Amino acid sequence: AQLNSLARAAGLEYFGTALGEGQTGDSQYMSIASDTDEFGQLTPENGQKWDSVEPNQGQFNYDNGDIVPNVAARNGQILRCHTLTWHSQLPSWVSSRSWSREELQSVIEVHIANVVGHYKGKCYHWDVVNEAADDSGGWRSSVFYNTLGTDFLPISFNAAKAADPDAGLWYNDYNLEMRGHLIVGTTPTREQLADTLRRFTALGVDVAYTELDIRHESMPPSDQALATQGDDYANVVGSCLDVGGCVGVTVWGYTDKYSWIPGTFPGTGAALLWDENFNKKPAYTSVSSVL
Ligand code: XIL
Repeated sequence: AQLNSLARAAGLEYFGTALGEGQTGDSQYMSIASDTDEFGQLTPENGQKWDSVEPNQGQFNYDNGDIVPNVAARNGQILRCHTLTWHSQLPSWVSSRSWSREELQSVIEVHIANVVGHYKGKCYHWDVVNEAADDSGGWRSSVFYNTLGTDFLPISFNAAKAADPDAGLWYNDYNLEMRGHLIVGTTPTREQLADTLRRFTALGVDVAYTELDIRHESMPPSDQALATQGDDYANVVGSCLDVGGCVGVTVWGYTDKYSWIPGTFPGTGAALLWDENFNKKPAYTSVSSVL
């Protein structure tokens, strides 16, 4: 059995991956991503983001956004939809002017009504608000926070709820640790991670790792570093198994061939479970043995 089958047998709802809209022409990439023994869930990597679906005010376009939902539907995979209110990949018509509170509330509500409405019934989860916290524990400065204060959170969640009452509505962030963009050798222990997850489930909400990758800071990785990466992955996946209310794990891509990491964190990489030639890495073996 492969990752998703093992995860389900271990009590999770899914083991999934983000899928890049630009790579759907790579048949090897698509065939592994479509293997439901391996991946029971997909997340669109970029296509549903604000700059993609509403590049100009009131002009909605779902050509890119629909790519991954269509793959998931064809394969019978769970779809996590991603993402609605986020300061990044936001078109400049939203971010680079000033709005009154009423105007910006309406901009958010129109956006969410349209996008969530378009995917109504298809999204098992929606990442409604992304990265509202900054890296030092405060609220992140953004057009949303600077105009509406924290009201942009309930405004966004209420709009999503109204547009698709059956979708699970999620807050998505990193460094908490929920999303899971981590670094080899500095990943917390399984117990530390499980304790953090329980602080959220104690509030009555489900948790999930939504964007897991664990990058090497020294490239190329040594055999030793690849083994450590495997231990780190096992800690993360194991912590989800330890916490009732941790529903699933999504890796942010599965092959080093297409990971966002080297482009965003230059000099680092090899963060995923398959190498760039689609060979399974030690981390793959390590995840499958912990599941
Ligand atoms: C990343 C994508 O992987 C890249 O292709 C894109 O250029 C930038 O965004 N947090 C998120 C994801 O919530 O949407 C980001 O995805 C990675 C960090």
